[in-house]
Amino acid sequence: MSGRLRIAVQKSGRLADKSLELLEAAGLRVLKGANELLYRIENAPIDLLRVRDDDIPVFVGDGVADLGIVGLNVLEEHMGERAAKPEQVMNLGFGKCDLKIAAPTNFEYRGPRSLQGLRIATTYPHVLSRFLKENGVSAEIVSMRGAVEVAPRLKLAQAICDLVSTGATLEANGLAPFDTVLRSEAVLIRAPRAVEPELQKVVDSVLLRFRGVTASRGAKYVMMNAPRAVLPEITAILPGAGSPTVTPLAGSDDKVAIHAVCQESVFWETLEQLKAAGASAILVLPIEKMM
Ligand code: PRP
Ligand code: ZN
Repeated sequence: MSGRLRIAVQKSGRLADKSLELLEAAGLRVLKGANELLYRIENAPIDLLRVRDDDIPVFVGDGVADLGIVGLNVLEEHMGERAAKPEQVMNLGFGKCDLKIAAPTNFEYRGPRSLQGLRIATTYPHVLSRFLKENGVSAEIVSMRGAVEVAPRLKLAQAICDLVSTGATLEANGLAPFDTVLRSEAVLIRAPRAVEPELQKVVDSVLLRFRGVTASRGAKYVMMNAPRAVLPEITAILPGAGSPTVTPLAGSDDKVAIHAVCQESVFWETLEQLKAAGASAILVLPIEKMM
């Protein structure tokens, strides 16, 4: 190979921009060149292979690309039948959407059994077929290439199985969601075979940086002063904090400074609770990087 790592990313569509943002947030500078298929990373031996999302699991499975950023929905749909499976490395925390069973709003849904004997339109025949099998339901799958939401109106099917993000598409077509087949988000995948030894270092560094970026998303650095006696109470209030750092305050015997990394969002209610527990000078700071 070229001595450069290849990461397959979606060329256009729901994950395209966010994938590039993740790379930038990980300190990888994307050079958008004249070559539409290949973008280079300026400060690391990495090329971005820009392809259709459905091709990403196949390219990574076959080793055409070493890593890939793809929706779990696409990964599950396209890997079902193939021998060369990419390895799912980590969830990336963006591109969240659900694969749902939907039908006209007046449909009476009482669980998967209600789908028995129906025709269901989808662009996800493998995932849907697995869902039906797991639930002991036999139904006819109408496999489409797109515009699944119009199938009920055209009497092609009584229900659909499609991706729902905001729900606007369903609503615009007089459909309602009734069940969740798969919760999806962007995931990082890697080729099943090992990369060249000198590129393994690059892979390790990409994984480490991606972990840092995803871990710091939503995480906050919280600082405050409080009497030492209320420390257990304060630790209990802080969402998703491990053990906080506690330092004595100069010129005070019982007051301490408390610093903690909170993995979850810190809401105003949390601050009010901290204040009520005896904390003062509370500061909440965003975290840019974490390792
Ligand atoms: C999906 C899905 C719906 C729409 C739902 O299509 O097929 O059309 O998104 O989103 P909403 O709930 O926010 O309205 P997508 O844009 O992913 O294109 P594709 O599945 O045809 O590739
Ligand atoms: Zn697609």
